[in-house]
Amino acid sequence: RPRVLSGIQPTAGSFHLGNYLGAVRQWVALQDTHDAFYMVVDLHAITVPQDPAELRANTRLAAAQLLAAGLDPDRCTLFVQSHVPEHAQLGWVMNCLTGFGEASRMTQFKDKSAKQGADRTTVGLFTYPVLQVADILLYQANAVPVGEDQRQHVELTRDLAVRFNTRFGTADDPTFIVPEPYIVKETAKIYDLQDPAVKMSKSASSPKGLVNLLDEPKASAKKFKSAVTDTDTVIRFDPEVKPGVSNLLTIYATLTQTSVPELEERYAGKGYGALKTDLAEVFVEWVTPFRDRTQEYLGDPETLDSILAKGAEKARAVAAETLATVYDRIGFVPAK
Ligand code: TYM
Repeated sequence: RPRVLSGIQPTAGSFHLGNYLGAVRQWVALQDTHDAFYMVVDLHAITVPQDPAELRANTRLAAAQLLAAGLDPDRCTLFVQSHVPEHAQLGWVMNCLTGFGEASRMTQFKDKSAKQGADRTTVGLFTYPVLQVADILLYQANAVPVGEDQRQHVELTRDLAVRFNTRFGTADDPTFIVPEPYIVKETAKIYDLQDPAVKMSKSASSPKGLVNLLDEPKASAKKFKSAVTDTDTVIRFDPEVKPGVSNLLTIYATLTQTSVPELEERYAGKGYGALKTDLAEVFVEWVTPFRDRTQEYLGDPETLDSILAKGAEKARAVAAETLATVYDRIGFVPAK
């Protein structure tokens, strides 16, 4: 079985609809076809200031949401990044292989650091993508299921894998598998409901554009009903001309496992109001059991923690083997 690895930050508490449609939904599906490793990336979360109690609660909350979304600990390995110390260890090695200029070109870093200002930007945020490289390479992942905004980090991973393999291995015995991004075109970028020119994200300029899965469903329904569309009236998938409507169609089609052309046909001659009201209903129906299941997992922290402990054990077995090979190949003396 080919292997996949991916991660999600616990920072914001609730996942948003972009996280789910762009990534987590694929993670669930890939459990059946791949050897799947998924983690809550708490090491990445501390690259921006955090409240310790909140981070702890949000890490468990993230795990609970992943289980509620359909990850099955019997069919995948679900763990917390800091439980596997090899991430930080390989991260350091990779830092020493990454060019300063190369890291400086990461667009997510440029965006985030520009928002925060140089004095409030940590070195951790700067090397964040390199830690992500280590995350992926430790597991010898063949594919990395993510949204479009993570493509550049997977490209960096490929570059560094090749670099390490060339410098420290032999062609017939490479150290790392060079991974491919696994990005589903239709849902690679879910857009803000108020500003369909930008991706949905926690840092949305208006809270009305961001659909958090754990918010009161009625509040989210309202956001769908007041989503920005255009002054035309035809319901047609055309991301260039009709970004708002197209985004709604993508969300609708994915949540109901319908095709976009089918929806276009169903809504022929109907107005945007009908589409929005129906989508609001579709979302509430989908999210209500998701919220309930999340609460159930949270209500039993012992079970949750033991799922994560088992996951960490399985993950460590794989990660330790890769790190041992790396340490040997770069010339470290083995600890006796
Ligand atoms: P994070 O926590 O920001 O986001 C988690 C996943 O959600 C996707 N995503 C979206 N997809 C479509 N439309 C959107 N509007 C949208 N917003 C977010 C992201 O692309 C991501 O797949 N650096 C990563 C976490 C990470 C990781 C890794 C991922 C750490 N190590 C190793 C893969 C492999 C991040 O911050 O994701």
